[in-house]
Amino acid sequence: MITFDAESRCFHLANDRISYIIRLGAGKYPLHLYWGPRVRRVSEDLLSALSAYTDETFSLHGLPLDRLPQECPTYGCADLREGMLQVRHADGTHALDLQYESHAILSGKPPLAGLPSARGETAQTLVLTLTDGCSGLSVRLLYTLWEDVDIIARSVEIVNRGSAPVVLDRVLSACVDFEQADFSLLTLSGAWARERQPFLRPLVPGDQGVSTARGASSAQTSPFLALLSPGATEEQGLVYAFALCYSGSFTASVHVDQDFTARAMLGIQPFGFSWTLASGERFQAPEAYLCCSAQGLGGMSRQFHRLVHRHITTGPYAQTARPILINNWEATYFDFNEEKLLALARQARAVGIDLFVLDDGWFGHRDRDDSSLGDWWEDLRKLPQGLGGLSSQIHAMGMKFGLWVEPEMVSPDSRLYRAHPDWCIHVPGRLRTEARHQLVLDLSRPEVRDYIVEAISEALTRGQVDYVKWDMNRNITMWGSQGLPAGRQQELPHRYILGLYEVMGRVIRRFPQVLFESCAGGGGRFDLGLMCLMPQAWCSDDTDAWMRCRIQYGTSLLFPPSVMGAHVSAVPNHQTGRSSPLFTRAAVAMGGSYGYELDLGKLPEAELAQIRELNTRVHSMQQLLLYGDFYRLRSPFSGNDCAWMSVSPDRREAVVTHVFALAQPNTKPRLLRLRGLDPALDYRDADTGRVWGGDELLSRGLRLETPWNDYQAQQFHLVALPHGESRV
Ligand code: DGJ
Repeated sequence: MITFDAESRCFHLANDRISYIIRLGAGKYPLHLYWGPRVRRVSEDLLSALSAYTDETFSLHGLPLDRLPQECPTYGCADLREGMLQVRHADGTHALDLQYESHAILSGKPPLAGLPSARGETAQTLVLTLTDGCSGLSVRLLYTLWEDVDIIARSVEIVNRGSAPVVLDRVLSACVDFEQADFSLLTLSGAWARERQPFLRPLVPGDQGVSTARGASSAQTSPFLALLSPGATEEQGLVYAFALCYSGSFTASVHVDQDFTARAMLGIQPFGFSWTLASGERFQAPEAYLCCSAQGLGGMSRQFHRLVHRHITTGPYAQTARPILINNWEATYFDFNEEKLLALARQARAVGIDLFVLDDGWFGHRDRDDSSLGDWWEDLRKLPQGLGGLSSQIHAMGMKFGLWVEPEMVSPDSRLYRAHPDWCIHVPGRLRTEARHQLVLDLSRPEVRDYIVEAISEALTRGQVDYVKWDMNRNITMWGSQGLPAGRQQELPHRYILGLYEVMGRVIRRFPQVLFESCAGGGGRFDLGLMCLMPQAWCSDDTDAWMRCRIQYGTSLLFPPSVMGAHVSAVPNHQTGRSSPLFTRAAVAMGGSYGYELDLGKLPEAELAQIRELNTRVHSMQQLLLYGDFYRLRSPFSGNDCAWMSVSPDRREAVVTHVFALAQPNTKPRLLRLRGLDPALDYRDADTGRVWGGDELLSRGLRLETPWNDYQAQQFHLVALPHGESRV
């Protein structure tokens, strides 16, 4: 898949569908020549794209690098644009002239030290080593290409082979220079309870993009951007997308320059970051994924979903159906005891729920959100038989038992804080700014990491836990670590994330059979980095069906349904006050890893019976719902309805879900054109027995029932008729 042509000095990374070509300009600068649908060879014309700059003029004495597309532009030499790397040498200067030293083509994909990354058993990796002769700083650029996904993984490792320390002020993970900037930029932005909403805008000269300095990948924006070529739509046209495998502060930006070319870059947020690299030390930047889709945004999403399923998520649940869970949070909040929990669990078991999850409030003396984080032992007032007693009784009912934890935090009102007041992130002498009455533990310190691993492991062992919800409910302020010297304080944001990955990795390795779900005050840290560790994440605290249509629609641009925790909750909804039918709430939650979060004891018998049926339905379709090829059919951002479908790999089965928002009187039934089906097959709706030709569903579509009342959902479970069976 990866070849080097010595004559043209070109590296060609190609699978059957995409090509990425790098040329060594003047034999020493890796220039970006092409990225897009597969080309068979590097033509003269392609090479001549760089011909304005001959090898002779190619030097730091002129400014040709300023106009050349570069794979690893640096700040401080001949390129006047912002680059991927910016350093400070011992003498305070910035210049960094990285020239080709060597390359290697590896089979597979090396893991990244200290950071999560995709697996690459079936991949090949190009390693380009560049060196700055004056300082001895060496940079390894890694490019991985898979056979089965149209995505290239890029990462950067910096090695200080000089004798003096170097300060890294900016280390981004990827840069792509596009010859033209005629794109629209798509990003995801939001807030608590309305995470990951898509925003589209044309590129204009200057800088544009998204970033965060909150210490987490955040609800406010996501480490992702896509560039849509003119005319690109949901299902057609060329789209280039970038996503970062990282859970901390990041930047993802596009710079449009004087020639109307575009430079897209992403990586660790440089604002508030610096890292001292002593002689002989290495720095590893997170991995970025570059996706090129010729099938519009839908094609892009299906590539990312495939990457997640085949190369990112791990563990026993990575490719299997997930247990249907019930979480007690919105049923009880902090007001529970063993009796109440067991009653809820019994009701849950009776309707076919597989997993009971005990949320916040089981430890210390936490009756509100203002105490006890860090004290991970049971509150015997609420659980007189401890976690073990509760969990044994739930196991005896034939259910699994899950537990909420928030390991990164400490409440000022806790034994942990009283014993170790310096273990939180803070600046001595300044106010310890609290959010939700809590402080953040300093995960850069080994003793803090060890405490968390031991305390959480003990709780999971005592509780014989099968599932963990790992929450994180505030962003970080007053950055300061008692474990770091003054000159290294700006390393803390990244060291925190490295510490987090280490702690999570150690706990997960101790409990390999447990299903882990990450959470951050809803979907406030929903990124590919955490998905390498935990195969699902709580998508949002907003469980209102229509808001979830919007949140899950935006989330699906990058993430598959399998990773999106999605629950049926009570009406009126606790976040919006809105009421929607039970079936609608369930149909929307089936767009993710399905569960409940309500007091079943308050539901009428008819709704409990409906839930029993819904659970049977989820069990029978879940593999398809979670892992099928996903198609967005109607956007809730552009109209009064929303629709999506999942199709099995053999195209013989599909589930189509449609939700109307507000009912409108006197309207003709609408048609919903489907995608991904086989036009040659006939499909029967398993619920109604109606039959259509795949060709008709793809061209004319399904006729939808006109809704009576607001927020009505319809779902179609299409199963192909056996070969030879004629349609009705
Ligand atoms: C925030 C989460 O998103 C909720 O689901 C719940 O677990 C609360 N934290 C508990 O404090």
